[in-house]
Amino acid sequence: MSAPRQLFVTTALPYANGKFHVGHIMEYIQADIWVRFQRMQGHHVNFVGADDTHGAPIMIAAEKAGQTPQAFVSEIAAGRKPYLDGFHISFDNWHSTDAPENHELARQIYRNLKANDLIETRTIEQFFDPAKNMFLPDRYIKGECPKCHAKDQYGDNCEVCGSVYAPTDLIKPYSALSGVTPELKHSEHFFFKLSDPRCVEFLEAWTQRVDTNGKLVLQAEVANKIKEWFSVRTNADGSTSEGLGDWDISRDAPYFGIEIPDAPGKYFYVWLDAPVGYLASLKNWFEKGGPKAQHGDIRSFEEYMAAADTEQYHFIGKDIVTFHTLFWPAMLKFSGRKTPDNVFVHGFLTVNNGEKMSKSRGTGLDPLKYLSLGMNPEWLRYYLAAKLSARNEDIDFNADDFMARVNSDLIGKYVNIASRAAGFLTKRFGGQLIHTFDPQGAVMLHDIRAAADGIAALYETREFGKATREIMLLADKVNAYVDQNKPWDLAKDTANNEALHQVCSVLINTFAALTRYLAPMLPALAQAVEQFTGSNMREWNLVHHDVQAIQPYQHLMQRVTPEQLESLFELADQSESSQAAINSVAIELPGGEAIAPTIGIDDFAKIDLRIAKIVNCEVVEGSTKLLRLTLDVGEGKTRNVFSGIASAYKPEELIGQLTVMVANLAPRKMKFGVSEGMVLAASHADEKAQPGIHILTPWPGAQPGMRIH
Ligand code: 2FM
Ligand code: ZN
Repeated sequence: MSAPRQLFVTTALPYANGKFHVGHIMEYIQADIWVRFQRMQGHHVNFVGADDTHGAPIMIAAEKAGQTPQAFVSEIAAGRKPYLDGFHISFDNWHSTDAPENHELARQIYRNLKANDLIETRTIEQFFDPAKNMFLPDRYIKGECPKCHAKDQYGDNCEVCGSVYAPTDLIKPYSALSGVTPELKHSEHFFFKLSDPRCVEFLEAWTQRVDTNGKLVLQAEVANKIKEWFSVRTNADGSTSEGLGDWDISRDAPYFGIEIPDAPGKYFYVWLDAPVGYLASLKNWFEKGGPKAQHGDIRSFEEYMAAADTEQYHFIGKDIVTFHTLFWPAMLKFSGRKTPDNVFVHGFLTVNNGEKMSKSRGTGLDPLKYLSLGMNPEWLRYYLAAKLSARNEDIDFNADDFMARVNSDLIGKYVNIASRAAGFLTKRFGGQLIHTFDPQGAVMLHDIRAAADGIAALYETREFGKATREIMLLADKVNAYVDQNKPWDLAKDTANNEALHQVCSVLINTFAALTRYLAPMLPALAQAVEQFTGSNMREWNLVHHDVQAIQPYQHLMQRVTPEQLESLFELADQSESSQAAINSVAIELPGGEAIAPTIGIDDFAKIDLRIAKIVNCEVVEGSTKLLRLTLDVGEGKTRNVFSGIASAYKPEELIGQLTVMVANLAPRKMKFGVSEGMVLAASHADEKAQPGIHILTPWPGAQPGMRIH
């Protein structure tokens, strides 16, 4: 027997700012199926994951939740297990990019790159928020689009007209964190010199590698896309794009991340240390003695990573290809390490033809809700497998299709084989199988077993959809054999005992073969079949062994019901909104945000809240958000207040009503005039997700001008 392969496998590390959505689960299921298949071949796999904990968005989300970033990310990490266990994802280790191993490895890699003369510093100009005292990432700068003049657009591109620009091009930029106008400031940044000819030459070769058959190692669509990034080219609009540019790997304090050695106040950009997290998790797994306990591997992490036969694979989504096919291999190569053997890129998952499962917005199918409804995780594993291929095309979860594949294919064609044969074997033959088969049955069993190599090749190349189709075709053959041989007729006359025994024995053996073929997708079902047949279902090559005897049959899998699917998708809007919240913690928090830090009564006394009468209200021309309120707080004059409540109220609904205002807020100059105060209104922290603005009204009896204590 040839030596087992040594496989180091990862999935992309999820940002620790939200719960898993079904897009994450799809990636983990894809990788898990591949890993389980490799383990069935007797190969040694180390399959690891971790939380991607660093970066500005997480730091800001933690601040909003009133927590330290460390506490914030560990709370998120604590919520991972029910998903991973629930969907039978067999990670060997789950770690964190904030763990000491990652700090150490990221710095080591950086030092190696620096020693290789591939790091340089440059002074760049960047927007700085003087109120927050921090440099602003592009997505935290907003302003008016320089092209179409749409308001409140992000610093990198306009959601209205789609144009792409630099944050400095925005008209009237403001900080999305504090609302103040940012200042341009200089800052020294560290760059990884990817434009260095050594890097360019290496990456061109690495990304276009071919195997011994001359086939591209990366997926063809991925390799071809990458090719474009190397060439200096003229774009459709006449502008030119450079070849590979240098990569800005530093961020200024305050930043939640890893401090750059010998550069106080400078941190690695999150994407520098994130993939290092793969190694950190593996190192942690070695330090815990995992590989030794599992495969008797006595090597150290360093020896394992340096070994020529260690193969390294990363499962990722198509949105993060650049990081994994350029930056990461270059980091490894030029820090003196081995480079990944391959990066397996999948597409996005949509639900019922809905939106893509993007990072921050998972829609439609809530994985924990799926489990809590008692839906079998293996239905989803099977269904997604049936849709997945080796290409990075998007796939859609469709409820009707799901029900058809689970009920008609998985249960109707495959599970039923066992139930059709088991009763006769148990009742008539004490559960014992015989090993001389009828000629037709023998040929069929032989054919089914002979398919093992072909199906293995499909698993190896991640053609899971093709594998399921192949397996279902085999199941069709078995069902045709049942229909021709009619065991229920044979059972009517004891003269047919031998034929009945043969047919049922053939059926159980085909069922065992099909179970092994499906085991990477259906590990729990395969385990139940081990009990039922007394045979090991975790070794691929045992497909050629006969089952000796069975235990009485017990239901292996229920059908999915339309009611379950209805429940899963009912209130889809609501779960969609909760998932879209900035972070999952927000879901459990009142109104989507943590209670603000404690203040004393003196702090509260500084805010002068008054009952105000809305004496007039009108729309503001040129603004879809604002209403102009004329308020009377009993001062003998009225005040002009702009309020962002136009989406919730028509002016005529408000005129004559009482409400509450902050009467001592400094007047603010706005585009449409000066606002002399603020009315109070309640809303969810994530207004997009849970729309609705509700202004306050006092109980009857309150008079304009009364103070609220
Ligand atoms: O895109 C993302 O969700 C990142 N957190 C993936 C990181 S993968 C690896 F580099 F850590
Ligand atoms: Zn625009």
